[in-house]
Amino acid sequence: MNIKIVKDYAELSNVAGEIITDLLRENPYCNLGLATGGTPLGTYQYLTARFKAGEFSMRDVRTFNLDEYCGLPRCHPESYHSFMYSNLFAHVDIREENMHIPYTEGCDLQEQCERYNALLDSHRIDLQLLGIGSNGHIGFCEPGTPFDRETFVAQLSEETRRDNQRFFNSFEEVPRTAITMGIGNIMQARRVLLIASGEAKAECINQMINGPVTERVPASVLQNHPDATIIIDAAAASRLTGKAAAQLG
Ligand code: F6R
Repeated sequence: MNIKIVKDYAELSNVAGEIITDLLRENPYCNLGLATGGTPLGTYQYLTARFKAGEFSMRDVRTFNLDEYCGLPRCHPESYHSFMYSNLFAHVDIREENMHIPYTEGCDLQEQCERYNALLDSHRIDLQLLGIGSNGHIGFCEPGTPFDRETFVAQLSEETRRDNQRFFNSFEEVPRTAITMGIGNIMQARRVLLIASGEAKAECINQMINGPVTERVPASVLQNHPDATIIIDAAAASRLTGKAAAQLG
């Protein structure tokens, strides 16, 4: 894993945004894996600004999101469809037919998993952006998810639902399930770029980097990925031990 520790959230967003900008300039036909949640917001703002400055086009880029809640209509403000439109898609020139997000509204979820998985099988992702849950999840692959799992309907853990409660009016409103790429899909990406910010992520970041590769900490699987970049701010790096901690200075 290539680990980069930056000062704060603003720098994290710029560094991650720059890596994605470079890819979009080098390969305007790339397949880009995207994440939602609080962490990538600054990265998407950075990308929007660079797009508006005329530095790349997303006309021929295909995007593949990690996950989508079940039980929320697509038009719900907290669905990941809405998130992607508000925070990126509405501001760039990506074409509707090139945006892919698992579909969960009024349909057979198992069939949708199979469709999404077939799509991922036929479009290898060039770069997959990831956040990390405070319990070490990636996508919605919660602790205990087998490393070879492909797209599936995940049960969200209580911890994840509590973490995401900030986006909803109450804990009860937080969905209990989601369609997510599996770890098997995520590991197929040519490159992965994981970003983490803040003290709440410090413990799982240390386990991901220095702990054993174990299904109890899903992100630890990235130790086995041939091209994984991890960008963390000083707060998320604050419990790092071992070699990576030397970067803290
Ligand atoms: C989002 C996703 C999740 C989040 C993780 C961190 O598409 O798959 O794994 O990346 O829950 O969320 P934030 O960034 O809100 O802390």
